[in-house]
Amino acid sequence: MGIHVQFALWSIAFSLCTWLASGWSNDPTHGFIELPFNTSFYHIQKPYDLPEEQRYSFINGVHKLWVFSTDKPLSRNSPTKPRSEIIISGYTYSSGVWQFEAYGYVPCGTSGVSVMQVFGATLPHNTSLILGVYNGSLSYFNASVIFPEVYDKWFKLNVIHQVETRKLKIYINGIFKYETLDRGGTFHYFKCGVYAQDYASYYMESRWKGIRVFKKM
Ligand SMILES: *[C@@H]1O[C@H](CO)[C@@H](O)[C@H](O)[C@H]1NC(C)=O
Ligand SMILES: *[C@@H]1O[C@H](CO)[C@@H](O)[C@H](O)[C@H]1NC(C)=O
Ligand SMILES: *[C@@H]1O[C@H](CO)[C@@H](O)[C@H](O)[C@H]1NC(C)=O
Ligand SMILES: *[C@@H]1O[C@H](CO)[C@@H](O)[C@H](O)[C@H]1NC(C)=O
Repeated sequence: MGIHVQFALWSIAFSLCTWLASGWSNDPTHGFIELPFNTSFYHIQKPYDLPEEQRYSFINGVHKLWVFSTDKPLSRNSPTKPRSEIIISGYTYSSGVWQFEAYGYVPCGTSGVSVMQVFGATLPHNTSLILGVYNGSLSYFNASVIFPEVYDKWFKLNVIHQVETRKLKIYINGIFKYETLDRGGTFHYFKCGVYAQDYASYYMESRWKGIRVFKKM
């Protein structure tokens, strides 16, 4: 083969790889714009009678949130179960395509708990998506298993919410795992941490790092 032909074939192969890598990569954030994320965009919800540092720490870039099933709710008169959650209230949205990305970690033993939410729904629901941990698996609410054997390992989570079509898509470690519809609602935001559900373990904990918020422009 002449050197020119070889070069042409190599160029085509290279272009094809670049195109595949850009379009079909395992990066669900492709085509999204990253938004600024710092302490101005979130705060911590924790038992109302305790100081934040008793249920939340942020060390070496890792947010650690924990709660006990016997803890108080987030406010004195709330009927809800105890929680220690990061609420990304700085990005409250009602239209468009939004994406949450973070690395999550759930230690063995934590169960009967929401670790991530897309808040906002039509009553009687409050939340459009709960990623729960039950029986050692990450689940859609307390039902379909999305990622089995979730304990004691970091996993990359991407959640995409397309408000107009109501579609929610969940990726674990860059791989598409689950699609469902939201539960309506006029506004939404992302949350992560621990929020006790039915059959909660006495101690609940999750850790998060590399939290990023994206929007499709
Ligand atoms: C957070 O980011 C915003 C937007 O970039 C900026 O205006 C604000 O000053 C930052 N806040 C902190 C606490 O860093
Ligand atoms: C929704 O939130 C309201 C107000 O905090 C609360 O009374 C109600 O129990 C919640 N419903 C569910 C299904 O969590
Ligand atoms: C967890 O496992 C128990 C015992 O096998 C089962 O009864 C329960 O339905 C499971 N819970 C979920 C949410 O899968
Ligand atoms: C899941 O939650 C629903 C609604 O709270 C409840 O009716 C159902 O029994 C739960 N299922 C399991 C397996 O815990």
